[in-house]
Amino acid sequence: MRIPLPDAALRMLSRQLGGPTGPVGALVARMLNKGNRPAIAAAVEALDLQGDETVADIGFGGGVGLELLLAAAPNGQVHGVEPSSDMLARARRGFSEAVASGRLVLHQASMSSLPVADAALDGWISLNTIYFIADVEPAFAELARVLAPDGRGVIGIADPDWMASQPFIKDNFTLRPVTDVVGALQQAGLAVERRELSRHGITYNLLVCTRRPGQESERAGL
Ligand SMILES: C[S@@+](CC[C@H](N)C(=O)[O-])C[C@H]1O[C@@H](n2cnc3c(N)ncnc32)[C@H](O)[C@@H]1O
Repeated sequence: MRIPLPDAALRMLSRQLGGPTGPVGALVARMLNKGNRPAIAAAVEALDLQGDETVADIGFGGGVGLELLLAAAPNGQVHGVEPSSDMLARARRGFSEAVASGRLVLHQASMSSLPVADAALDGWISLNTIYFIADVEPAFAELARVLAPDGRGVIGIADPDWMASQPFIKDNFTLRPVTDVVGALQQAGLAVERRELSRHGITYNLLVCTRRPGQESERAGL
């Protein structure tokens, strides 16, 4: 049974999902970590890491993706990119040892302007983020720019029809057909393999991206 929430509460939840902040943001972070963990774990698995790579979670929210990437690349380095200062502070507290040792580097930034050198990442994941990006073209160009020639990236989005039926979807979400997202990633120079997960009858899409041949560029340091 779904308990109906007043419109003001739904709008607040919608805003919080796009930029968790304050005490409500802390609750949202916990909720995101619990609810999205299976999809994020599948995305990390799809990167097929050997353990010494440089990887990133872009829009990490509550930080479960950082935890899973740190475990999957124990001899590598993880970058966390997030615009919300409260989520960055939460990650600094929760992963203080990894931050102190340099295994985790946190950046306050947006997908549209990644503070990472060309071809510097062997892998990136970004789940449930592009709903909050009005213009994906520059953001996807950035994802392509930072990916190493033999790297992999994973975008995760829920079925847009299911999303559209959810009461928490208010004006700050942009829902796009999955084929449009695939087309925009291809336009940015990425080859895309679409994989579907099913959980509680809801389809979740993992778009596994690689550099298209001919898009090679020199690998650079961070
Ligand atoms: C619904 S949460 C998802 C968090 C996490 N990836 C997950 O799946 O649990 C969306 C996250 O994207 C972040 N975000 C919003 N706009 C962004 C942008 N332009 N670039 C990167 N992250 C963004 C928000 O701050 C928020 O933490």
